[in-house]
Amino acid sequence: MDAFRIQGGRRLKGTVRVSGSKNAALPLMAAALMAEDTVKLQDVPRLSDIAHLVMLLESLGCDVKHGEDRTMEIKVVDEGNSLAEYDIVRKMRASICVLGPLLGKRGEASVSMPGGCPIGDRPVDIHLRGLQALGADIELEGGIIHARAKKLQGTRIFMGGPFGSTVLGTINVMSAAAVAKGTTVLEQVACEPEVVDVANLLNAMGASIHGAGSPRITIDGVESLTGADHRVIADRIEAGTWIMTAAITNGDLQIENCPVDCLMAALDRLDEIGVSVDIPTGADAMRATVSVGSARRLEPVFITTQPHPGFPTDLQAQIMALLTLADGNSMITEKIFPDRYMHVPELARMGANLYRQGPSVMVSGVKKLVGAPVMASDLRASAGLVMAGLAAKGQTTVNRVYHIDRGYEKLDEKLKSVGAEIERIPSSA
Ligand code: EPZ
Repeated sequence: MDAFRIQGGRRLKGTVRVSGSKNAALPLMAAALMAEDTVKLQDVPRLSDIAHLVMLLESLGCDVKHGEDRTMEIKVVDEGNSLAEYDIVRKMRASICVLGPLLGKRGEASVSMPGGCPIGDRPVDIHLRGLQALGADIELEGGIIHARAKKLQGTRIFMGGPFGSTVLGTINVMSAAAVAKGTTVLEQVACEPEVVDVANLLNAMGASIHGAGSPRITIDGVESLTGADHRVIADRIEAGTWIMTAAITNGDLQIENCPVDCLMAALDRLDEIGVSVDIPTGADAMRATVSVGSARRLEPVFITTQPHPGFPTDLQAQIMALLTLADGNSMITEKIFPDRYMHVPELARMGANLYRQGPSVMVSGVKKLVGAPVMASDLRASAGLVMAGLAAKGQTTVNRVYHIDRGYEKLDEKLKSVGAEIERIPSSA
């Protein structure tokens, strides 16, 4: 497994471009299963998670072309197989996003139940409850979820759960309801920008979905969906990671294609920490070019992760890395995945002063981090460790960076282009 070797202490300077959103692109690609014709997506990042979904869609009868220019064309050519096998699902949990589209279009879907995950428990009960409410028969057999329905029927469904709503669950049920008979009202749904992006694609395909981005979505079912052409939204988590990376290296970065509109909670916390993000007046709030500067002294803050528009769990590890160098005590509370703290002991290996109690971590700022070999555990934890390595004194080796390749397009190359000293060590070395 590849590793990153980082020589810390360089100030990053220059311009980086944020890629298309992985977490939007995955369910957008799955939505193409419902189209009678070709769906063309632009700005689909070249990532290993995307490659896994391409494999899955191919196994489900799609012809998929992903060009070097990041355009993707998906056309269903054979509806004979509707089983998403364990071999692919175990590599990528987000494979569950084919469940709703397959059921809606083909009247049946079998998806291997996703297993354990380093960020904590990740049940799919709300996905299944929602599809059952639409009239699907659901059985679990041999670790596989089998869903069947002759014709789904619109209804009113409550989609809340103990940790808020569910992003992919909302998308699954919304997609299936797009071709159900009659009207579906989904209450307490996820408001994340990725849900809105999928609703926009489905509407471009002929669906009638209203209210995406708010807690209530209303869907008037249609008979069938056509092909469409759609550009994937910019990746808000990558953008947030770049802003925090500029701050932790005391750098001076221009960030292009930055969806500031989706980052309000993070920008609010960063402002309090002393990180200024300059957004030009009149900039496109979904694709702005912003400049980041930061005070030398970082202020401590309290942060609670929440469903959108709250502070995203997917930026928790990165802001923790930043706060390890703040001047005082910060508190982070994880309300989405209370066990998403695998990076805590790794940051401690680099000299961070962290004290975890259940879902909260107190971060006592230190004067400096020191380089060390550390282990990446999940995608965002890995990004936090890379950030810490860039700021640390000496050399850091981040092992198992395949996690990063799942979700950050060419992170090492982008970092190099703005002055970082980072090298990819292939597993064979
Ligand atoms: C999406 O996962 C993202 N993944 C995750 O990004 C992100 O961390 C998460 O949303 C939360 O924002 C993709 O979009 C591919 P959830 P998802 O269902 O949809 C509980 C990353 O690093 N829950 O919104 O699978 C669940 O346990 C990743 O890019 C239920 O209780 O997450 C969690 O506490 C990792 N029952 C909360 O809801 C359910 O049926 C939110 O999970 C489903 C979820």
